[in-house]
Amino acid sequence: MENLELEQVEKKVEEELSAVEDMNALQQTKANYLGKKGIIAQMMSNLKDLSIEARKELGMKSNLLKQSLERKFEEHRKFLEDKMIQKKLENERIDVTLPGVRFKCGTIHPLQKTIMDLEDLYIGMGYTVAEGPEIETDENCFEKLNLPKGHPARDMQDTFYIGPEWLLRSQTSPIQVRTMLAKEGKPIKIICPGKVYRRDADDATHSHQFMQCEGLVLGKDITMADLKGALLEMAKMMFGEDRKIRLRPSFFPFTEPSVEVDVSCAKCGGSGCAMCKNTGWIEILGAGMVNNNVLRMCGYDPNEIQGYAFGIGVERVTMLKYHIDDIRNFYINDVRFLNQFKEVK
Ligand code: PHE
Repeated sequence: MENLELEQVEKKVEEELSAVEDMNALQQTKANYLGKKGIIAQMMSNLKDLSIEARKELGMKSNLLKQSLERKFEEHRKFLEDKMIQKKLENERIDVTLPGVRFKCGTIHPLQKTIMDLEDLYIGMGYTVAEGPEIETDENCFEKLNLPKGHPARDMQDTFYIGPEWLLRSQTSPIQVRTMLAKEGKPIKIICPGKVYRRDADDATHSHQFMQCEGLVLGKDITMADLKGALLEMAKMMFGEDRKIRLRPSFFPFTEPSVEVDVSCAKCGGSGCAMCKNTGWIEILGAGMVNNNVLRMCGYDPNEIQGYAFGIGVERVTMLKYHIDDIRNFYINDVRFLNQFKEVK
């Protein structure tokens, strides 16, 4: 075999390799040249017919060619491998600018929102939040609050009885009773949000289950002026900085004196409109100075310590604030109603 042929072989391999696009074809081409029955092997086997001199020279050259070809095949293998990886990366590329999947996100229920607002306000004034069970004893819900069995004022809070002594609480005041009994005569400053029950027929303004947020402050020299301040701040927070409040005498068995609290109408500013039935005022809650009987029954000496209590109807203030005309909207879980509170801060 001539030198020329050897060079031609190298050229031919280069040419063929330039057309090889995948590993199988590479393997095949490599076998054609370097395999057991390949072109190089055949060339080697032809050597035996040559003179010793020629055999030596050609043998050396063939070996060099073999090495060179091996390098070329290896280079091309690497080249193909890189190309494959590149292609894979290309295919698996993630476009982070594509719009994602939007999850449907709920919103805070308006009643919960009001409770959170009240908690924020009163915690800011040094109150803590107290909770209690919804199934209560007659004693905690009524008797210790100066409502003995048979008292006519129980009529206002008829509830669901589980037995003669157990009932669904009709107000959150039993949390106050529990706190007083636990504090054993020491000062108290709490709000008690929670669910309550009454034997009422459901309509636009009544529900057999609703929410209250009551407050109780006991200490030395706590007066009605403190009560008024605590309620004015609440009215401003809920209904706007310009709101005023007024207290009207009322009756609750657990407070003496007792008051109903009105807030100046946020819609007309006090001049009178349909919302406030032309009075300029809207009733929002009941409150008063804790009755001495209650203090004594719950382990407090009225000569030492006294204070006030108030009871906010969470539904009532929420309805007034957001102009909701039917209390049942709060409980039927209609997303069209709830979605309207998404933007409420
Ligand atoms: N618990 C009373 C009610 O549900 C509200 C209230 C609380 C009134 C505290 C005065 C003082 O009617």
